[in-house]
Order: sequence, then structure tokens, then C-alpha cells
Amino acid sequence: MNTYSLIKPLLFQLDAETAHDFTLKSLQCAERSGLLKLYPQAPACAPRQVMGITFPNAVGLAAGLDKNGAVIDGMAALGFGFIEIGTVTPRPQPGNPKPRLFRVKEAQGIINRFGFNNLGVDNLIENVKAANYKGVLGINIGKNFDTPNEKAVDDYLICMRKVYAYASYITVNISSPNTKNLRALQEKEALSDLLAALKQAQLELAQRHGRYVPVALKIAPDLEREQVNEIADLLVAHKIDAVIATNTTLAREQVQGMGNANETGGLSGAPVREKSTLVIQQLSQRLQGALPIIGVGGILNSADAVEKIAAGASLVQVYSGLIYKGPALVHDICRSLG
Ligand SMILES: Cc1cc2nc3c(=O)[nH]c(=O)nc-3n(C[C@H](O)[C@H](O)[C@H](O)COP(=O)(O)O)c2cc1C
Repeated sequence: MNTYSLIKPLLFQLDAETAHDFTLKSLQCAERSGLLKLYPQAPACAPRQVMGITFPNAVGLAAGLDKNGAVIDGMAALGFGFIEIGTVTPRPQPGNPKPRLFRVKEAQGIINRFGFNNLGVDNLIENVKAANYKGVLGINIGKNFDTPNEKAVDDYLICMRKVYAYASYITVNISSPNTKNLRALQEKEALSDLLAALKQAQLELAQRHGRYVPVALKIAPDLEREQVNEIADLLVAHKIDAVIATNTTLAREQVQGMGNANETGGLSGAPVREKSTLVIQQLSQRLQGALPIIGVGGILNSADAVEKIAAGASLVQVYSGLIYKGPALVHDICRSLG
């Protein structure tokens, strides 16, 4: 029995967002007091070279848990090979009204409709500067809820220019279901325009900073095969550095009839696992190794991570699995991926 299995019943007594806030605060306190130094070191793993970056291990923290980059050092102590913070937007915004985070316990799922609640990109940069973490840091960027899609490119460019100097890689999130019409940016014409603008800015920034920061695109699991192929072709055409598959799903087949299943928002955890893996397989078939895939969605144990790698992912990320299994999950996966 690990410590998390003792704490979990208490956390699950609380409403989901209160438990989430409490956990982040506790992690922050444990880190600041030096207590986390007692946490066991991650098992020795073979480092991975992906996007030209050396990852000490293949297990990353998925975006959305540390939206403001306020708990980077605490997360690092848990043994992740990389940490992705955000989604961050140019201006701070409160997100959707509460309640907006729900457990679907029977299925080991989570539904969220946070809506990019965050303190804005300037605040995130201050937090990154204040952190001691020197490992691989992804910064995930988005658009403000009130920026129309025709102007979305501007928001991504604002964030990209601001975070460039502080990121190991930058993730462009166009796949959250909780910002109205955001997913429309996955459509061919809009996506081509967005990727062209981002690529141009990336090359300019690389020259100015003397450092090339890779850009990854994060996509949804709710895509037909033709759409996946179309996206894969655009990623290659625009020389994007990686793809992260996937975000949360709008589908509910896996949780029908269960408590909270009808809440609006994106479903994650075990119920999204198969869909995410399918998208990874489809991407892998189309891309033929042209760019790496980071696999995320429903990894609740090491076998799920192995499944993502077998489907074509080079690295994996976890979020909901941490809620159901606790931080020991990171070491378990590390051990099994070697
Ligand atoms: C509460 C919550 C908030 C999330 N917020 C974000 C976000 O801000 N940006 C993002 O790209 N993904 C976000 N995600 C999606 C996760 O990064 C991940 O892609 C998804 O949950 C599937 O992985 P999982 O099943 O391991 O949770 C969020 C997920 C959850 C559960």
C-alpha cells in the first residue's frame, strides 16, 4: 500500500476542484519545506532524444494540472522526465463558473470544463523564472475565450513570443473542448494559416535568441481518420516538430449511465484511452516517422503507457491517472518503459 492510497479516500470526500487546489497547495508546501526531498528518486531510465531534446525519462506531466506554472519544483520532485505547464492565454481569465470539475469514479474518468482559467502569460513567466527546475519544460499556449477565431493567430503569437526564451518546447493547444469554437482551428484552412504563422515566428525567434525551440501541436481524440490524415499532412508541410495526441473527449459512450457522465466538458482518464491510442496509431501510419508523437489519454498504469508507445508514441504524458493512482504512477511507468 502506498501513501496515496491512504490520502485518496480523504481527497475523494472533497468536491473535485477543492481536492485539486488542496493537492497543488500541499505539493507546493511540501516542496518549500524541503519535505519532498524525502520522496524517492525516479528509477534509472534510458534518456530519450525527441525533437532534438534529451528527455531524462519518457513520462511527462500533461498540460492543465499546473496551468500557471506555480508548482513546477513540486511536480519535478515526483520524477517526471518533463513537465508541461499551461494552457496559458495572453490575458488572465477566470474560466467557467464552478462547479467545473467532476469525477466519473466508476470509470476512472474526469470531466472538466475549466475553460482555460489562468493568471495570464506574464504571471506564468514570473513563476518559471522563480522555479529552480532545470529540466525539460513545455509551455502550452492558447487563446483568450473572448478572442474571435479570426484573431486567434494573434493570441498564439503573443504567447509564443513571450514564452519562447523560457520553454524547452511550446505546445499549441487547439483541442480543448471548453473554449467555444477552439477546435474549429483544427480544420484544414484555419490550421494551415495558424501553422504557417507560427512557423515563421518560430524561425524569427530562433534567430533572435540563437536557440531553436520546437513547437508541438496538441489535437483532439474526436477526429475522423481523414481529419487525422489531413492534420498529419499539414504538420509535415509546415515542418512542425511534434504532435501531442490527445486532449479530452466529448464522447460519452464509455461512461453512459454513470454519475456525472452528463456534465458538459472534456472527458479524460480511462474512458478516453482507446480513442487516444487510435488517433496515435492513425498519426503514426500517416506520418511514417516524419515527426514524433507524444501520447496522452487514459494512462492509468504501465501497461497503458506501453500501449501508447506500441501505437507509435515516443513519449507519454499523464494527468487523470495521477488523480486515480497517485504519483507512484510516474515511477511505475518509468520502470516499465526502461
Ligand atoms: C482538469 C483537466 C484540465 C485540463 N486542462 C488542460 C489544458 O489547460 N490544456 C491542455 O492542453 N490540456 C488540458 N487537459 C488535458 C490533459 O492534458 C490530457 O490531454 C487529457 O486529460 C488526457 O490525458 P489523461 O487521460 O491522462 O488525463 C486537462 C485535463 C484535465 C483532466
